[in-house]
Amino acid sequence: MTRALLASALCLHAVALAAAELPRGDAEKGKTIATQVCAPCHGADGNSPTPANPKLGGQISEYTYKQLANYKAAQGAKPERENPVMGAMVAGLSAADMRNVAAYFATQKPSQGSAKNKETVFFGRKLYRGGDAAKGVPACAACHGPDGSGIPVQYPRLAGQYAEYTEAQLKAFRDGTRANDANRMMRAIAARMSDKDIASVSDYIAGLR
Ligand code: HEC
Ligand code: HEC
Repeated sequence: MTRALLASALCLHAVALAAAELPRGDAEKGKTIATQVCAPCHGADGNSPTPANPKLGGQISEYTYKQLANYKAAQGAKPERENPVMGAMVAGLSAADMRNVAAYFATQKPSQGSAKNKETVFFGRKLYRGGDAAKGVPACAACHGPDGSGIPVQYPRLAGQYAEYTEAQLKAFRDGTRANDANRMMRAIAARMSDKDIASVSDYIAGLR
């Protein structure tokens, strides 16, 4: 093993250990919360009925937990991810509730979506898989996986998500209204993307499976 490979293997090991130290969510308990509170907007199985609300089914549990924690405002402070609707939803949830509901949605099967724009899907695919070296946009696949299923624990699943939601998030990272990404990872990328880049890659992602 080369030194670099060894270093990255050690690093992955450290990440895995950190994740293992978190208490595991109880999907059964999470199901009750999902059915009673989240279902009208996200679907009981996490496959939300409308594009304004993201699909949560099959999402990496640690990512979902992080988002819920980010929506929650610490006393007197702004939440890391600002959204009035989700802010109200998490206000009454404990850390254990959030872990449980995240674990539940991770066990659900994500529904398939489809790309809708034939004109841009090839360009969207190129951007997703290879990035745009001239603009300094890295390949999305490097962090979100070639099939968009994400890479635990930090990098979320994107595959099959409603294009409208993906597009809104990329624009929010671009204008800084969403700023909860560690090391500005997504803000730095979105800042280099045009409206056309964002629309094309979002449409392509909707059809990934
Ligand atoms: C009234 C509708 C509504 C309800 C009820 C609701 N949500 Fe949401 N949820 C939304 C909307 C709208 C967004 C997008 C917010 C944004 O842009 O940040 C969202 C975003 C999210 C996200 C971020 C997803 C991502 O991919 O980053 C998570 C996680 C989430 N909701 C979980 C839940 C859970 C768990 C519950 C139940 C406890 C719940 N939501 C209840 C409307 C709702
Ligand atoms: C260097 C790694 C990296 C690359 C490359 C990358 N992302 Fe991300 N992305 C992240 C991280 C980390 C997050 C989670 C941020 C957080 O914690 O909220 C994220 C989150 C997202 C989200 C929000 C998902 C949701 O459910 O709300 C979208 C959409 C997204 N990325 C799209 C893309 C697209 C499109 C590309 C390619 C143009 C891309 N990403 C390239 C690291 C990356």
